[in-house]
Amino acid sequence: MFESGLLKDKTIIITGGGTGLGKSMATRFAELGANLVITSRRQKVINETAEELRQHGVKVLAITCDVRDPDQVQNMVDQTVNEFGKIDILLNNAAGNFISPTEDLSPNGFKTVVDIVLNGTFFCTQAAGKVMRENKGGVILNIVTTYAWTGSGYVVPSACAKAGVLAMTRSLAVEWAKYGIRTVAIAPGPFPTKGAWSRLAPPGLGIQKKMKERIPLKRVGEHIELANLASYLVSDQAGYINGEVVTIDGGEWLKGAGEMNELERIPKVAWKLMQMKRKKKK
Ligand code: HXC
Ligand code: NAP
Repeated sequence: MFESGLLKDKTIIITGGGTGLGKSMATRFAELGANLVITSRRQKVINETAEELRQHGVKVLAITCDVRDPDQVQNMVDQTVNEFGKIDILLNNAAGNFISPTEDLSPNGFKTVVDIVLNGTFFCTQAAGKVMRENKGGVILNIVTTYAWTGSGYVVPSACAKAGVLAMTRSLAVEWAKYGIRTVAIAPGPFPTKGAWSRLAPPGLGIQKKMKERIPLKRVGEHIELANLASYLVSDQAGYINGEVVTIDGGEWLKGAGEMNELERIPKVAWKLMQMKRKKKK
Protein backbone atom coordinates (compact mmCIF):
# COMPACT_ATOMS: atom_id res chain seq x y z
CA MET A 1 0.00 0.00 0.00
CA PHE A 2 2.84 2.41 0.81
CA GLU A 3 6.32 3.18 -0.50
CA SER A 4 8.68 1.00 1.55
CA GLY A 5 10.63 4.04 2.83
CA LEU A 6 7.54 6.02 3.86
CA LEU A 7 8.78 6.46 7.46
CA LYS A 8 12.50 5.98 6.82
CA ASP A 9 14.71 7.49 9.56
CA LYS A 10 11.74 8.88 11.49
CA THR A 11 12.02 8.48 15.26
CA ILE A 12 8.73 7.32 16.73
CA ILE A 13 7.84 6.86 20.42
CA ILE A 14 4.99 4.42 21.02
CA THR A 15 3.60 4.24 24.54
CA GLY A 16 2.18 0.82 25.34
CA GLY A 17 4.17 -0.41 22.33
CA GLY A 18 4.88 -3.89 23.67
CA THR A 19 1.42 -5.40 23.23
CA GLY A 20 -1.82 -5.31 21.27
CA LEU A 21 -2.48 -2.45 18.89
CA GLY A 22 0.65 -0.57 19.96
CA LYS A 23 2.77 -3.54 18.92
CA SER A 24 0.91 -3.89 15.61
CA MET A 25 1.41 -0.21 14.77
CA ALA A 26 5.08 -0.44 15.81
CA THR A 27 5.54 -3.43 13.49
CA ARG A 28 4.10 -1.56 10.52
CA PHE A 29 6.23 1.53 11.30
CA ALA A 30 9.32 -0.70 11.41
CA GLU A 31 8.42 -2.25 8.05
CA LEU A 32 8.20 1.29 6.68
CA GLY A 33 11.69 2.17 7.95
CA ALA A 34 11.15 4.04 11.25
CA ASN A 35 13.40 3.82 14.30
CA LEU A 36 11.32 3.12 17.36
CA VAL A 37 11.12 3.67 21.10
CA ILE A 38 8.58 1.43 22.76
CA THR A 39 7.61 1.95 26.37
CA SER A 40 5.41 0.37 29.03
CA ARG A 41 5.63 -0.72 32.65
CA ARG A 42 6.85 -4.28 31.94
CA GLN A 43 10.48 -4.41 30.80
CA LYS A 44 10.33 -8.10 29.81
CA VAL A 45 7.35 -7.53 27.52
CA ILE A 46 8.88 -4.56 25.70
CA ASN A 47 12.27 -6.29 25.45
CA GLU A 48 10.67 -9.24 23.65
CA THR A 49 8.73 -6.99 21.29
CA ALA A 50 11.82 -4.87 20.60
CA GLU A 51 13.72 -8.01 19.59
CA GLU A 52 10.97 -8.89 17.08
CA LEU A 53 10.89 -5.35 15.70
CA ARG A 54 14.68 -5.30 15.13
CA GLN A 55 14.20 -8.11 12.57
CA HIS A 56 13.05 -5.34 10.22
CA GLY A 57 16.52 -3.79 10.28
CA VAL A 58 15.59 -0.69 12.28
CA LYS A 59 16.85 0.58 15.65
CA VAL A 60 14.55 -0.08 18.60
CA LEU A 61 14.86 1.09 22.20
CA ALA A 62 12.72 -0.53 24.91
CA ILE A 63 12.38 1.83 27.86
CA THR A 64 10.37 1.07 30.98
CA CYS A 65 8.14 4.02 31.75
CA ASP A 66 4.93 4.44 33.70
CA VAL A 67 3.23 7.30 31.87
CA ARG A 68 1.57 8.38 35.13
CA ASP A 69 4.94 9.57 36.43
CA PRO A 70 6.24 12.77 34.77
CA ASP A 71 9.82 12.03 35.91
CA GLN A 72 9.80 8.61 34.24
CA VAL A 73 8.32 10.19 31.12
CA GLN A 74 11.03 12.87 31.03
CA ASN A 75 13.70 10.18 31.47
CA MET A 76 12.22 8.19 28.56
CA VAL A 77 12.22 11.28 26.34
CA ASP A 78 15.81 12.16 27.37
CA GLN A 79 16.99 8.64 26.53
CA THR A 80 15.26 8.90 23.15
CA VAL A 81 17.01 12.17 22.33
CA ASN A 82 20.39 10.79 23.52
CA GLU A 83 20.02 7.85 21.16
CA PHE A 84 18.34 9.43 18.12
CA GLY A 85 18.84 13.19 18.55
CA LYS A 86 15.18 13.96 17.77
CA ILE A 87 11.57 12.87 18.08
CA ASP A 88 9.51 13.02 14.90
CA ILE A 89 6.37 11.27 16.09
CA LEU A 90 4.73 10.50 19.43
CA LEU A 91 2.02 7.84 19.49
CA ASN A 92 0.00 8.08 22.72
CA ASN A 93 -1.40 4.56 22.80
CA ALA A 94 -0.98 3.38 26.43
CA ALA A 95 -4.27 2.93 28.24
CA GLY A 96 -5.90 1.39 31.27
CA ASN A 97 -9.52 0.32 31.37
CA PHE A 98 -11.99 -2.00 33.09
CA ILE A 99 -15.75 -2.46 33.18
CA SER A 100 -17.68 -1.58 36.31
CA PRO A 101 -21.05 -0.19 37.30
CA THR A 102 -20.24 3.45 38.00
CA GLU A 103 -21.82 3.33 41.46
CA ASP A 104 -19.24 0.68 42.46
CA LEU A 105 -16.21 2.72 41.40
CA SER A 106 -13.82 3.82 44.13
CA PRO A 107 -12.12 7.21 43.89
CA ASN A 108 -8.85 5.42 43.17
CA GLY A 109 -10.45 3.26 40.47
CA PHE A 110 -11.58 6.38 38.61
CA LYS A 111 -8.26 8.14 39.22
CA THR A 112 -6.15 5.19 38.04
CA VAL A 113 -7.68 5.11 34.55
CA VAL A 114 -7.73 8.90 34.17
CA ASP A 115 -4.09 9.06 35.31
CA ILE A 116 -2.96 6.60 32.64
CA VAL A 117 -5.11 7.79 29.75
CA LEU A 118 -5.47 11.54 30.20
CA ASN A 119 -2.62 12.63 32.48
CA GLY A 120 -0.22 10.12 30.90
CA THR A 121 -1.02 11.46 27.44
CA PHE A 122 -0.44 15.00 28.68
CA PHE A 123 2.91 14.17 30.34
CA CYS A 124 4.21 12.44 27.19
CA THR A 125 2.88 15.21 24.95
CA GLN A 126 4.46 17.93 27.10
CA ALA A 127 7.89 16.25 27.27
CA ALA A 128 8.06 15.15 23.62
CA GLY A 129 6.42 18.38 22.45
CA LYS A 130 9.34 20.41 23.86
CA VAL A 131 11.77 18.40 21.72
CA MET A 132 9.52 18.75 18.68
CA ARG A 133 9.30 22.50 19.14
CA GLU A 134 13.09 22.74 19.31
CA ASN A 135 13.29 20.65 16.12
CA LYS A 136 10.58 22.80 14.50
CA GLY A 137 8.07 20.06 13.85
CA GLY A 138 6.54 16.72 14.66
CA VAL A 139 3.36 14.67 14.78
CA ILE A 140 1.36 13.63 17.83
CA LEU A 141 -1.09 10.78 17.24
CA ASN A 142 -3.52 9.96 20.05
CA ILE A 143 -5.55 6.75 20.23
CA VAL A 144 -9.04 7.46 21.55
CA THR A 145 -12.23 5.55 20.88
CA THR A 146 -15.71 6.38 19.63
CA TYR A 147 -17.18 6.71 23.10
CA ALA A 148 -14.94 9.76 23.53
CA TRP A 149 -17.88 11.68 22.03
CA THR A 150 -20.85 9.38 22.63
CA GLY A 151 -19.91 8.48 26.22
CA SER A 152 -20.58 4.94 27.43
CA GLY A 153 -21.96 3.32 30.54
CA TYR A 154 -19.78 0.86 32.51
CA VAL A 155 -16.50 2.44 31.33
CA VAL A 156 -17.01 5.95 32.69
CA PRO A 157 -13.38 6.63 33.73
CA SER A 158 -12.16 5.60 30.28
CA ALA A 159 -14.90 7.57 28.48
CA CYS A 160 -14.10 10.72 30.50
CA ALA A 161 -10.36 10.32 29.93
CA LYS A 162 -10.63 9.63 26.20
CA ALA A 163 -12.95 12.63 25.83
CA GLY A 164 -10.21 14.69 27.47
CA VAL A 165 -7.60 13.30 25.08
CA LEU A 166 -9.82 14.20 22.13
CA ALA A 167 -10.16 17.75 23.48
CA MET A 168 -6.37 17.89 23.90
CA THR A 169 -5.93 16.74 20.30
CA ARG A 170 -8.13 19.47 18.91
CA SER A 171 -6.72 22.15 21.23
CA LEU A 172 -3.07 21.49 20.42
CA ALA A 173 -3.78 21.09 16.71
CA VAL A 174 -4.47 24.81 16.76
CA GLU A 175 -2.08 25.99 19.48
CA TRP A 176 1.03 24.07 18.35
CA ALA A 177 0.54 24.32 14.59
CA LYS A 178 2.77 27.41 14.74
CA TYR A 179 5.62 25.11 15.81
CA GLY A 180 5.07 22.80 12.83
CA ILE A 181 3.44 20.16 15.04
CA ARG A 182 0.39 18.30 13.74
CA THR A 183 -1.91 16.68 16.30
CA VAL A 184 -4.31 13.97 15.17
CA ALA A 185 -6.30 11.06 16.61
CA ILE A 186 -7.68 7.69 15.66
CA ALA A 187 -10.89 6.31 17.16
CA PRO A 188 -10.89 2.53 16.75
CA GLY A 189 -13.96 0.39 17.21
CA PRO A 190 -13.45 -3.19 18.40
CA PHE A 191 -10.08 -4.74 17.50
CA PRO A 192 -9.35 -8.02 19.29
CA THR A 193 -6.42 -7.72 21.72
CA LYS A 194 -5.69 -9.67 24.88
CA GLY A 195 -5.58 -6.47 26.96
CA ALA A 196 -8.96 -5.17 25.86
CA TRP A 197 -10.84 -8.43 25.40
CA SER A 198 -9.84 -9.90 28.78
CA ARG A 199 -11.02 -6.77 30.58
CA LEU A 200 -14.01 -5.62 28.54
CA ALA A 201 -15.60 -8.76 27.10
CA PRO A 202 -15.97 -11.33 29.87
CA PRO A 203 -16.55 -14.82 28.42
CA GLY A 204 -19.93 -16.54 28.57
CA LEU A 205 -22.10 -13.49 27.85
CA GLY A 206 -21.86 -13.70 24.06
CA ILE A 207 -20.57 -10.12 23.98
CA GLN A 208 -18.14 -10.76 21.13
CA LYS A 209 -20.85 -12.28 18.92
CA LYS A 210 -23.27 -9.44 19.66
CA MET A 211 -20.51 -6.94 18.92
CA LYS A 212 -20.08 -8.31 15.40
CA GLU A 213 -23.84 -8.29 14.79
CA ARG A 214 -24.00 -4.63 15.81
CA ILE A 215 -21.31 -3.56 13.36
CA PRO A 216 -22.66 -2.77 9.87
CA LEU A 217 -19.66 -4.50 8.25
CA LYS A 218 -20.37 -7.55 10.47
CA ARG A 219 -16.80 -8.03 11.61
CA VAL A 220 -14.21 -6.67 14.01
CA GLY A 221 -11.19 -4.71 12.83
CA GLU A 222 -7.94 -6.22 11.60
CA HIS A 223 -4.77 -4.85 13.17
CA ILE A 224 -3.16 -4.16 9.81
CA GLU A 225 -6.07 -1.87 8.90
CA LEU A 226 -5.41 0.29 11.94
CA ALA A 227 -1.63 0.11 11.48
CA ASN A 228 -1.90 1.33 7.88
CA LEU A 229 -4.16 4.20 8.90
CA ALA A 230 -1.71 5.21 11.64
CA SER A 231 1.23 5.00 9.20
CA TYR A 232 -0.52 7.31 6.78
CA LEU A 233 -1.54 9.84 9.45
CA VAL A 234 1.96 10.15 10.91
CA SER A 235 3.65 10.30 7.50
CA ASP A 236 4.52 13.45 5.58
CA GLN A 237 1.85 12.41 3.05
CA ALA A 238 -0.77 13.52 5.60
CA GLY A 239 0.94 16.89 6.10
CA TYR A 240 -2.28 18.92 5.83
CA ILE A 241 -4.32 16.79 8.26
CA ASN A 242 -4.37 18.47 11.64
CA GLY A 243 -6.88 18.23 14.51
CA GLU A 244 -8.82 15.44 12.83
CA VAL A 245 -10.02 12.26 14.52
CA VAL A 246 -10.39 9.37 12.09
CA THR A 247 -12.88 6.69 13.05
CA ILE A 248 -12.12 3.10 12.07
CA ASP A 249 -15.00 1.01 13.37
CA GLY A 250 -16.88 -0.55 10.45
CA GLY A 251 -19.68 1.97 10.97
CA GLU A 252 -20.38 0.81 14.54
CA TRP A 253 -21.05 4.07 16.34
CA LEU A 254 -23.20 5.53 13.58
CA LYS A 255 -25.30 2.40 13.64
CA GLY A 256 -26.08 3.04 17.28
CA ALA A 257 -26.75 6.72 16.66
CA GLY A 258 -29.06 6.68 13.62
CA GLU A 259 -32.70 6.86 14.71
CA MET A 260 -34.01 4.40 12.10
CA ASN A 261 -31.08 1.99 11.78
CA GLU A 262 -32.88 -0.75 13.71
CA LEU A 263 -35.26 -1.04 10.75
CA GLU A 264 -32.70 -3.35 9.18
CA ARG A 265 -34.44 -6.04 11.23
CA ILE A 266 -37.54 -5.73 9.08
CA PRO A 267 -37.49 -8.66 6.62
CA LYS A 268 -37.67 -8.04 2.87
CA VAL A 269 -41.12 -9.58 2.64
CA ALA A 270 -42.48 -7.11 5.21
CA TRP A 271 -41.13 -4.18 3.15
CA LYS A 272 -42.87 -5.66 0.10
CA LEU A 273 -46.18 -5.92 1.99
CA MET A 274 -45.93 -2.30 3.16
CA GLN A 275 -45.21 -1.20 -0.40
CA MET A 276 -48.18 -3.12 -1.75
CA LYS A 277 -50.44 -1.57 0.91
CA ARG A 278 -49.20 1.92 0.05
CA LYS A 279 -49.78 1.41 -3.67
CA LYS A 280 -53.25 -0.04 -3.05
CA LYS A 281 -54.22 3.03 -1.00
CA LYS A 282 -53.17 5.33 -3.87
C1 HXC B 1 -13.65 -1.90 39.71
C2 HXC B 1 -11.34 -1.79 39.71
C3 HXC B 1 -11.26 -2.82 38.73
C4 HXC B 1 -12.51 -3.39 38.27
C5 HXC B 1 -9.24 -2.21 39.23
N1 HXC B 1 -10.06 -1.45 39.97
N2 HXC B 1 -9.95 -3.06 38.45
N3 HXC B 1 -12.49 -1.33 40.19
N4 HXC B 1 -13.66 -2.89 38.76
N5 HXC B 1 -12.54 -4.34 37.35
C6 HXC B 1 -9.65 -0.45 40.93
C7 HXC B 1 -8.89 -1.10 42.09
O1 HXC B 1 -9.76 -1.67 43.06
C8 HXC B 1 -8.11 0.09 42.65
O2 HXC B 1 -8.91 0.91 43.46
C9 HXC B 1 -7.79 0.88 41.40
O3 HXC B 1 -8.73 0.48 40.38
C10 HXC B 1 -6.38 0.59 40.90
O4 HXC B 1 -6.25 -0.81 40.69
P1 HXC B 1 -4.83 -1.51 40.56
O5 HXC B 1 -5.07 -2.91 40.16
O6 HXC B 1 -4.04 -1.26 41.81
O7 HXC B 1 -4.16 -0.61 39.41
P2 HXC B 1 -2.94 -0.89 38.45
O8 HXC B 1 -2.14 -2.09 38.90
O9 HXC B 1 -2.26 0.38 38.26
O10 HXC B 1 -3.65 -1.37 37.06
C11 HXC B 1 -4.36 -0.46 36.27
C12 HXC B 1 -5.61 -1.11 35.65
C13 HXC B 1 -5.24 -2.43 34.93
C14 HXC B 1 -6.20 -0.07 34.69
C15 HXC B 1 -6.61 -1.41 36.74
O11 HXC B 1 -6.39 -2.98 34.32
C16 HXC B 1 -4.16 -2.28 33.90
O12 HXC B 1 -2.98 -2.34 34.20
N6 HXC B 1 -4.54 -2.03 32.63
C17 HXC B 1 -3.57 -1.80 31.53
C18 HXC B 1 -3.99 -2.37 30.23
C19 HXC B 1 -5.43 -2.17 29.83
O13 HXC B 1 -6.29 -1.79 30.63
N7 HXC B 1 -5.70 -2.46 28.56
C20 HXC B 1 -7.01 -2.34 27.99
C21 HXC B 1 -7.14 -1.10 27.20
S1 HXC B 1 -8.57 -1.33 26.27
P3 HXC B 1 -8.87 0.83 45.09
O14 HXC B 1 -9.87 1.83 45.55
O15 HXC B 1 -9.24 -0.58 45.45
O16 HXC B 1 -7.46 1.17 45.50
C22 HXC B 1 -9.32 0.10 25.95
C23 HXC B 1 -10.42 -0.08 24.91
C24 HXC B 1 -11.31 1.09 24.79
O17 HXC B 1 -9.00 1.12 26.46
C25 HXC B 1 -12.46 0.95 23.81
C26 HXC B 1 -13.04 -0.39 23.50
C27 HXC B 1 -14.06 -0.40 22.39
P1 NAP C 1 -3.34 -3.35 25.52
O1 NAP C 1 -2.59 -4.37 24.75
O2 NAP C 1 -3.74 -3.67 26.92
O3 NAP C 1 -2.54 -2.00 25.47
C1 NAP C 1 -2.38 -1.12 26.53
C2 NAP C 1 -0.90 -0.86 26.70
O4 NAP C 1 -0.72 0.23 27.61
C3 NAP C 1 -0.13 -2.04 27.27
O5 NAP C 1 1.02 -2.28 26.47
C4 NAP C 1 0.29 -1.60 28.66
O6 NAP C 1 1.58 -2.13 28.99
C5 NAP C 1 0.35 -0.09 28.48
N1 NAP C 1 0.14 0.62 29.74
C6 NAP C 1 -0.89 0.49 30.61
N2 NAP C 1 -0.72 1.27 31.66
C7 NAP C 1 0.44 1.94 31.45
C8 NAP C 1 1.17 2.90 32.20
N3 NAP C 1 0.71 3.35 33.37
N4 NAP C 1 2.33 3.36 31.68
C9 NAP C 1 2.79 2.92 30.49
N5 NAP C 1 2.16 2.01 29.75
C10 NAP C 1 1.00 1.52 30.24
O7 NAP C 1 -4.72 -2.98 24.78
P2 NAP C 1 -5.02 -2.49 23.27
O8 NAP C 1 -6.36 -3.00 22.96
O9 NAP C 1 -3.88 -2.77 22.40
O10 NAP C 1 -5.16 -0.90 23.48
C11 NAP C 1 -4.29 0.02 22.83
C12 NAP C 1 -4.99 1.35 22.66
O11 NAP C 1 -6.11 1.20 21.78
C13 NAP C 1 -5.54 1.96 23.92
O12 NAP C 1 -5.39 3.35 23.89
C14 NAP C 1 -7.00 1.61 23.86
O13 NAP C 1 -7.79 2.49 24.62
C15 NAP C 1 -7.25 1.76 22.39
N6 NAP C 1 -8.43 1.10 21.89
C16 NAP C 1 -8.46 -0.23 21.79
C17 NAP C 1 -9.59 -0.83 21.26
C18 NAP C 1 -9.69 -2.31 21.07
O14 NAP C 1 -10.74 -2.79 20.67
N7 NAP C 1 -8.63 -3.08 21.32
C19 NAP C 1 -10.68 -0.04 20.86
C20 NAP C 1 -10.60 1.33 20.98
C21 NAP C 1 -9.46 1.90 21.49
P3 NAP C 1 2.04 -2.46 30.51
O15 NAP C 1 0.92 -3.19 31.14
O16 NAP C 1 3.29 -3.25 30.32
O17 NAP C 1 2.32 -1.13 31.14
